[in-house]
Amino acid sequence: MSVFFGSHQGFGWIFMWLTAAFKRSAAWNLPISSHDARAMIRTSTLSLEAWSGDSNFDYSSTAGWESYYTKDQIKIPLTEWHSSVTLESLANHVPAWASSCLMIGCGTSHFPEVVRAGHTAKIVLLDSSPTCIRELKSRYGCSMCCICGDATRLSELVEPDSMDCIFDKGLMDAFFCGDGWTTPTEALLKGASSVLREGGIYLLVSYRLSASSKEFLESVGNQVGLDWKFDCTGSNERVGISIATKLNRL
Ligand SMILES: C[S@@+](CC[C@H](N)C(=O)[O-])C[C@H]1O[C@@H](n2cnc3c(N)ncnc32)[C@H](O)[C@@H]1O
Repeated sequence: MSVFFGSHQGFGWIFMWLTAAFKRSAAWNLPISSHDARAMIRTSTLSLEAWSGDSNFDYSSTAGWESYYTKDQIKIPLTEWHSSVTLESLANHVPAWASSCLMIGCGTSHFPEVVRAGHTAKIVLLDSSPTCIRELKSRYGCSMCCICGDATRLSELVEPDSMDCIFDKGLMDAFFCGDGWTTPTEALLKGASSVLREGGIYLLVSYRLSASSKEFLESVGNQVGLDWKFDCTGSNERVGISIATKLNRL
């Protein structure tokens, strides 16, 4: 059962209000504000607040996540972001030819074992939280490589041109909650492009993106050689699946 972001019955009116706010932001072609992003996430993470006891939880702060994971280790295995999309359907987006898959901001999601069940790709897990990485090491032993580090500095952590697939479920959402969200998002995509092989993909599972957020991702993509496709198969009314392909260098 997903305690983290799954159940939202009873909060329909909040969702309607947030959806309207989100649409207004898109219609005016303004970037979704960090305030709106926080509200969207907070609505579906009431249980996170209950756990952390912190209604001002800063989703964009690595220190915040570390203290969250430290607070209730027993419940860690229950966490799963965007549980309205099944892990099996997401695993179908990992290319069959991929020999490596880097999961950034992986948290304690069970996606790694779902991918491992159907793919031979080498899986690398990366999160900024030392507590989370310790948990993953004890869960997976040596069968998966675990890196504790900042995803905005990927080129310092992972070999260039070494990954066929990068999987991000919830990490960019967390960045969107910060006031200066464009800076870490741009750094993330620059690093992602440098560690992806040509033809490799960045698979993003996030809240539905506003028109201007897509424009921003496209403009960074143009600079760093990532070609975005949004609202791919499996997206639903709340969750968007976006795929950026690393272009061949001329
Ligand atoms: C919203 S949770 C998503 C967790 C998991 N991917 C899932 O789908 O359930 C965001 C995760 O990103 C991690 N994170 C936040 N900022 C990060 C950064 N700069 N670099 C690496 N990981 C980060 C957090 O520790 C947390 O585990």
